[in-house]
Amino acid sequence: MEKNIQELKKIPNHLGIIIDGNGRWAKKRGLTRSMGHKAGFGTLEKILKECFYTYNIPVVSIYAFSTENWNRPKDEVDYLMETFRKYLNQEFKNDYPEVKLNVLGDIDGLPEDIAINCKKLIEETKNGTKYTLNMAVNYSSQDELVHAYNQMIEEGVTKVDRETIANHLYTKGQPPLDFVIRTSGEQRLSNFMLWQAAYAEFYFPKVYWPAFTKNHLHKALLEYQSRDRRFGAIKG
Ligand code: FPP
Repeated sequence: MEKNIQELKKIPNHLGIIIDGNGRWAKKRGLTRSMGHKAGFGTLEKILKECFYTYNIPVVSIYAFSTENWNRPKDEVDYLMETFRKYLNQEFKNDYPEVKLNVLGDIDGLPEDIAINCKKLIEETKNGTKYTLNMAVNYSSQDELVHAYNQMIEEGVTKVDRETIANHLYTKGQPPLDFVIRTSGEQRLSNFMLWQAAYAEFYFPKVYWPAFTKNHLHKALLEYQSRDRRFGAIKG
């Protein structure tokens, strides 16, 4: 399929990607799970750049590591943390110009050096006004809501509305999710941005993440464009 950027008239303001299938991709090739994550990381870098600099998507959220993922074998967890460590240490500002990094999740629950580097990079990129990258690491959407409520209690808030809650989430000030892609064919949210995805459209391509290409992304965005979003109202 030839990509024709012009045919995309409607681009999501906020795209979420649930990375899935690294392990199965590796198993099919007789490789270790960590090698699947290595390939998946390559895909991530390529797709992120395409999202920002080809399609101009203002906010992209990536589900990279959930609070449940700590239960995986130690060598796999170590590999993922090492990947994240390198990602933060690389020339992020050169590789992702005009991108503000935001980490969704419990930063202080990460290895100390990673937590320090996360905070440093968040600070250093805070003036990137064109694009935002939400990297969900050590993330659980239910915990995010619990965290938000506890913060409100601490602040002495006695009555909440939707706006108060939204303003206490890690995505404060951002638009809600428009479109969520989960690769590998699995069809569930797995505790990813439950509040923010209230009216999102969902797309479940049957391709493992390491094999997800720029053309798959283009096809996904064409699919988003074809969806009739009504937000609970009657078709006009
Ligand atoms: C899901 O596939 C993938 C993950 C849990 C980790 C994905 C993360 C990266 C590739 C990037 C690492 C970078 C950072 C920023 C931490 P799976 O292992 O669940 O696949 P399976 O369902 O086929 O086993």
